[in-house]
Amino acid sequence: MKRRDFLTASAALSASMMLPRFAMAAAAPMITVRPAPAMAPLMGVGKPETAVWAYGKSVPGPVIRIPRAKPVHIRLENGLEQATTVHWHGIRLENAMDGVPGFTQSAVAPGAAFDYRFTAPDAGTYWYHSHEKSWEQVARGLYGPLIVEEDTPVAVDTEHMFIVDDWRLGDDGAIAQDMGALRDAAHGGRLGNWLTVNGLTAPKLAVRPGTRLRLRCISAANARIMAFRFPGVAVHVIAVDGQPLAAPETLEDALLLAPAQRTDLVIDIPSDAAGEIVIEEVSTAEPIKAASFNVSGAPIRNAAPSDMVRLPPNPLNGHSLDLDGALNVDLVMEGGAMGQLAKATYQGQLFDMRTLVQEKGQIWAFNGEAGAPSAPLLHAPRGRTVTINMINDTRWPHAMHLHGHHFQVIEREGMPVTGAPWRDTELVAPAERVRIAFVADNPGKWLFHCHMLEHRMAGMGTWINVG
Ligand code: C2O
Ligand code: CU
Repeated sequence: MKRRDFLTASAALSASMMLPRFAMAAAAPMITVRPAPAMAPLMGVGKPETAVWAYGKSVPGPVIRIPRAKPVHIRLENGLEQATTVHWHGIRLENAMDGVPGFTQSAVAPGAAFDYRFTAPDAGTYWYHSHEKSWEQVARGLYGPLIVEEDTPVAVDTEHMFIVDDWRLGDDGAIAQDMGALRDAAHGGRLGNWLTVNGLTAPKLAVRPGTRLRLRCISAANARIMAFRFPGVAVHVIAVDGQPLAAPETLEDALLLAPAQRTDLVIDIPSDAAGEIVIEEVSTAEPIKAASFNVSGAPIRNAAPSDMVRLPPNPLNGHSLDLDGALNVDLVMEGGAMGQLAKATYQGQLFDMRTLVQEKGQIWAFNGEAGAPSAPLLHAPRGRTVTINMINDTRWPHAMHLHGHHFQVIEREGMPVTGAPWRDTELVAPAERVRIAFVADNPGKWLFHCHMLEHRMAGMGTWINVG
């Protein structure tokens, strides 16, 4: 081959190698989410519809499926009469895309748009929701499932979403307009009186006998801690808060879902099953029918598979905690009804409890400070292991959520815990002490707050600074 021919050939080769890349980049579609008022049939057929705020006209919003480790572009177009943002809950993304108004971006005005561009490093089950006045906007329906696909499909026959919410509805189907009420904020948060799964009352999920299905459970409740039972079927937990467990675990008891938590289940429908298999919500005195599997058709297989589904590990699973070199801080949680909080700092000023509640609407404090403080709970050099000892000096449980990172519980009530799953939201019981640890490897300012949204509104928020 002459040199000139070689050059021509290699130029042609590199051009052809580049073409598919350009083509792929151009083809990566922009996803648009448009929050706007809508009507939703939350209560079911024959009942009045509910005026909600919804992404793409439905509650929950459309399932957003994105690939792992590839840049995505999601445009928020605000069709509300209120400013808003979207938070991609649980994704370890770039700080500027985290969707926290006044913190990582400005709130997006009515009629305005914002472009979110990020790359999700870990496959799994996440969700997206409003982070502006979330106690109101999430209560009105602004949430949806966010699924980051595994690189190769997981060996199940089918999958269903199971995104749960409890609403406070009147008999006329209208949402009670008392969002952010102080009495809710001082107690367990806004608890509803109407349970929906996938935005419906007791929906029927169609399956064939012998089906192995993945159920992606997500709690979008403002505050209620829910529990679900699956009588008559074999259930395994394969992931929590998006992250695969080291090994699948049999679900022995009810599935507990605190606000914002997720659990991926593998459910094997018996091959001789027929008719309805009811899923019950059992957190209150009277079990409620949450949903059911409607089993019909020819069996998919004659016996349950002998092996269990294993998810491939995520990059996160490669994190190793350096507890000897860790930065350790305490987070004392105080306040709420029947609490001891006498005074707290708010926006740099010390107030007694009475003024704090009546004039500032603040009822809770972290380390003596209510609301999002101007200084972070901690500064961590990038890559440092951090432990936070959460000391719950209140009479209430709290679902603590860290943005931009996943953590492991390493201590409960002062006793070491090993092999805990990676989570982004952990439930801390009244009077409990829970120490979490994580590698602070994602630079930026990250919120750390209670996901009982009224608690956060009334003081339970702080932040960390990484890098
Ligand atoms: Cu799911 Cu700061 O939130
Ligand atoms: Cu709380």
